[in-house]
Amino acid sequence: MALWNGRFSKKINAQANDFNSSLAFDKRLLNEDITGSIAHVTMLGDCEIIPKDEAKAIAKELAKMIDEELVFDDSEDIHSFIENELTKRLGDLGRKLHTARSRNDQVALDLRMYLKKEIDYIGGQIKDLINVLCDLAEQNEDSVMPGFTHLQHAQPITFAHHLMAYSQMFMRDLGRLKDCFNRMNESPLGSGALAGTTHPIDRHKTAEMLGFNKPCENSLDGVSDRDYCVELAGAISLIMVHLSRFCEEIILWASQEYKYIELDDGFATGSSIMPQKKNPDIAELIRGKCGRVFGDNTALLTMLKGLPLAYNKDMQEDKEAIFDSVDTVKMCLSTFAPMLATMRVNKENMRKSCEKGFINATDCADYLAKKGVPFRKAYEATGKIVAYCIENGKVLDDLSIEEYREFSTVFDNDVYAAISLEACVRQRNSYGGANTAAAQIAKVRGELIGN
Ligand code: ARG
Repeated sequence: MALWNGRFSKKINAQANDFNSSLAFDKRLLNEDITGSIAHVTMLGDCEIIPKDEAKAIAKELAKMIDEELVFDDSEDIHSFIENELTKRLGDLGRKLHTARSRNDQVALDLRMYLKKEIDYIGGQIKDLINVLCDLAEQNEDSVMPGFTHLQHAQPITFAHHLMAYSQMFMRDLGRLKDCFNRMNESPLGSGALAGTTHPIDRHKTAEMLGFNKPCENSLDGVSDRDYCVELAGAISLIMVHLSRFCEEIILWASQEYKYIELDDGFATGSSIMPQKKNPDIAELIRGKCGRVFGDNTALLTMLKGLPLAYNKDMQEDKEAIFDSVDTVKMCLSTFAPMLATMRVNKENMRKSCEKGFINATDCADYLAKKGVPFRKAYEATGKIVAYCIENGKVLDDLSIEEYREFSTVFDNDVYAAISLEACVRQRNSYGGANTAAAQIAKVRGELIGN
């Protein structure tokens, strides 16, 4: 039965009811709805808005519902359903629950409570992922690989350094989730339909009972704010961006052309026709799922844009979008972390790949610069040496000292040690540089403990 029958002379059209109903997707707010109602009714009793014993009886029946297998009907939403169910069980007593409350503050409360819980969960998943990254980085502090710009060999780095770059992205994601949680952590309960209430309620009490920092300051804002959905969808979108960049690299690294890693059989798939194939489907699917999450983010922004204060039914559209974002990122994170943890790293191929080109050209120029040659001149001389090598099918390490001296008399026998792959990486120990992975790992692990 609808909660608003009094004014109407006939029942809502069945199709209109189906269209209007959100129960199919907001039933996942069941626990939050009941928990919020228990806090509300307890406060009603404590503030003597309804008799205390009645409040207790209502709270007791609501608590029972949490553990029961409830059968959903054609109610308009989870809030109507729970109230109807309570009234079925308690008669007029159940009809007292909604004193000094509206579904408008109720739904805003439920959603905040639900999303706070989900943020905690996603944050935990991200911490697990960062730990996997640190473990993997520890095993690869000496794995030399090409660093790329424009997908061209640039300068040598270690695989550990590459992995730790991702740990920074995910640390920022953690920060964004935390910010979002903190701003969401205000209770809208008691905002009523839009203007508060004439009953002597205690909003601080319900906020505290439900684990909120404080009540929202303005009742209109309390019921019409969905910024927290947009913020969370934005934070999740960036997590997806980070995962998709990582997945793209994994897809490249797993290809025949790179062969830097091999995915565990448990996280790859085969082809129905090509027996040799081992496909990185999981990584591709995570990359692909960005589309729906960005779509959710856009849907939320568009839904909210131009809405007059306070509540409008448009806002019911918030739930499917934010639920989809939350579900998707959780699924992606829970699959991505073990895929990463189980992949095999082919250190040898990473290293061999560095030997193919002129990845140590900067170091050759730096060698001259360190001996007093102005860097721009050192750069030019090295450029000429590279061109000479390309013409003669050589790499920098193959040239004789006589050949080097053709380009600059500053070259000496110590050039070979200076441009060796090991030296190139070892010497990049400027703060945050390629040879600082160990310090980065220690720092990130420390920050995780405090998080
Ligand atoms: N199902 C509604 C929603 O999700 C609950 C609030 C309904 N309030 C109202 N005045 N119709 O937004």
